[in-house]
Amino acid sequence: MQYTGEVGTPQYAEVDYQARNAVHLNPFVMPSPSGQSDRHISEKSKRLAQVTDAEATRLDDQTILKRVAEALNIGGYKRHILLCTGPDCCTPEQGADAWDFLKGRLKELKLDKGENFVYRSKVGCLRICHKGPSCLVYPEGTWYHSADAEGLENIIQQHLMKGQIVEDLLIAENPLSDERAD
Ligand code: FES
Repeated sequence: MQYTGEVGTPQYAEVDYQARNAVHLNPFVMPSPSGQSDRHISEKSKRLAQVTDAEATRLDDQTILKRVAEALNIGGYKRHILLCTGPDCCTPEQGADAWDFLKGRLKELKLDKGENFVYRSKVGCLRICHKGPSCLVYPEGTWYHSADAEGLENIIQQHLMKGQIVEDLLIAENPLSDERAD
């Protein structure tokens, strides 16, 4: 739709009216029967926020986000480990195995909650793309290579539990504060 007339002229007003009407009639922006705009609320977020479908529709996004963050204990963790699961630094199978190992060990060692809570994130690529799985631990900003089951066990035992850098697996350090772990 082209605006041909000058702003304020009847020609402009007519085209503007048609343009706004076309947007309103677009099925992708139509209000839902409930009167709200359609929006995607994942099953995962509903489960974490502990809301039913009907409640989720009524709640605003900020409320849902707050509930999800509380359920994940964001604000209460001591370290954050980000593990790349490939496909370039390792195969997707190796990445999946490493991720399963990490989840299992954090749980076994009770690092999935409490005062030493370690928040874990599976990521697609940390841009190192060599000798993976690549892994990154905050707050120290420690980058590791070879984070397979054996490597992760060392990272968990030394770094996550004792705060010591695993020098053999170290790629680089980029602390976001002045502190180093050891
Ligand atoms: S694919 Fe793992 S760092 Fe790029």
